[in-house]
Amino acid sequence: MNKKTVEDLNVSGKKVLVRCDFNVPLDENKNITDKTRIIAALPTIKYLLENNAKVILCSHLGRPKGQFNMEYSLKPVAEELSRQLNMNVLLAKDVTGESAKYLTENIKEGEVVLLENVRFDPREEENDDSLSKEFASLADLYVNDAFGTCHRAHSSTAGVAKFLPSACGFLIEKELKNLGDALNNPKRPFVAILGGKKVSDKIGVIDNLLEKVDTLLIGGGMAYTFFKAQGYNIGKSICELDKLDLALSLIEKAKNKGVKMLLPVDNVVGKEFDPNTESMVCKSTEITDDWQGFDIGPETIKLYEEELKNAKTVLWNGPLGVFEFDKFAIGTNEIAKSIGNLEDCITIIGGGDSAAAVTKAGLEDKMTHISTGGGASLEFIEGKDLPGIECIENK
Ligand code: 3PG
Repeated sequence: MNKKTVEDLNVSGKKVLVRCDFNVPLDENKNITDKTRIIAALPTIKYLLENNAKVILCSHLGRPKGQFNMEYSLKPVAEELSRQLNMNVLLAKDVTGESAKYLTENIKEGEVVLLENVRFDPREEENDDSLSKEFASLADLYVNDAFGTCHRAHSSTAGVAKFLPSACGFLIEKELKNLGDALNNPKRPFVAILGGKKVSDKIGVIDNLLEKVDTLLIGGGMAYTFFKAQGYNIGKSICELDKLDLALSLIEKAKNKGVKMLLPVDNVVGKEFDPNTESMVCKSTEITDDWQGFDIGPETIKLYEEELKNAKTVLWNGPLGVFEFDKFAIGTNEIAKSIGNLEDCITIIGGGDSAAAVTKAGLEDKMTHISTGGGASLEFIEGKDLPGIECIENK
C-alpha cells in the first residue's frame, strides 16, 4: 500500500481525529448485537493512546438523514468503547458544535472523546467543505480507519483529508492487505463463491472476478436469473427479467476466459416466503410453477465442496440461500463450514450477510479474514477506487 499509515505520523501530544465505522446493529433496547466493528477499531485507538495522542473519534450510525435524532445516538458505542478501553470515553452532545469544541479543546493526552453521529449534520453526506473544515479545526491530524464506509465520499470519510495531514489506520491497512492480496496475488486455484439476491448488485463483482479466479460458484437468489436466462422454468423464484441478457453474457465471458462457472444443480424450494413453509428438494431444471427457490440443494453442496477441496484461495460474498430462516440456511452453513475446514488455504469473507452467516455459525476464528465492510468490500472487489482511501496522503 502506498498510503501513509498511522505509524507514519508523529502523534505524540497531537489531537488525532479518527474516522471509525461504528455503524453497529442495535436491538430495540439499544444493545449492540454485534460488536465486531468496535473491536476491529481498537488496535488503532490503543496505538494512539499508547503513543500519547489525544484521540477524537467520529462515526455515523444508521441513516438519520441529516437530522439530529437520539434514536441514532452513538451513546451505546461510547459505553461499549468505555468498557473495551477500560476508561471513560466522553460523548459530545453534537458533531462540531459547542460541546464538540469544548471537549476537544480540553482533551488531554491519553484521553478519548467521541463526537455525536456525523450524519446528524446534513453537510456530512454532501461532503461539504464547510463541515470538513469544522472537523479539521478540532484536530491536528486525521486518520481514516472506517473501512466499511470508505466507499462513501463524505466530509468525515474523505473531505476532511483536504485540510489535515492524513493517514490510514490499522483496520484499513489490514483490510486492503487481505482483500488486495487475495484478488491481485492469489494462491491458485482461486475459487470465488458469490451469493445474494440480485445479479444487478453483483455485476461489477462478477465481471472483475472473471478476470481473476479459476472457479466461480454461484448461489443465492441470483442463480434463478441465470436459470431463466438459459430457458429453465423457475416457478415463482426471484428473477430480474431485465438482466437475462447480462446473465448470458457473463456465462459467455466465463467460457471465453476459461473460468469454470458453476450454477446450482439442485435447490431447496418452498411454497411461500415463510420460515415454516412446505419445502422440498428439486433439480434446477425441474422447478414447477408453484414453487420458489430458497437455498442450494444437497447435490450442489457436494459439488461445491468438491471444488473447494483443492482451493488455495477462497473469496466468499453473499449468502447462498435465505439464511435468516433456519430451514433455508443449510447451504450457507454447510459451505461456511467447508470453507472453515480448509487447510493451507487463504479464506476471505466479504462483509455484510456472509460475515453475519459465518458469525452465526460460530466459524469466525476459522477464516483468514472477515471483512468489516459490506458495500465497501464489494466495491473493492469490483476494482473501484474507494474515496476514503484515495483521499489519504501517499507515503
Ligand atoms: C455499512 O454498514 O455498510 C457502512 O457503515 C456504510 O453505511 P451506509 O450504507 O449507510 O453508508
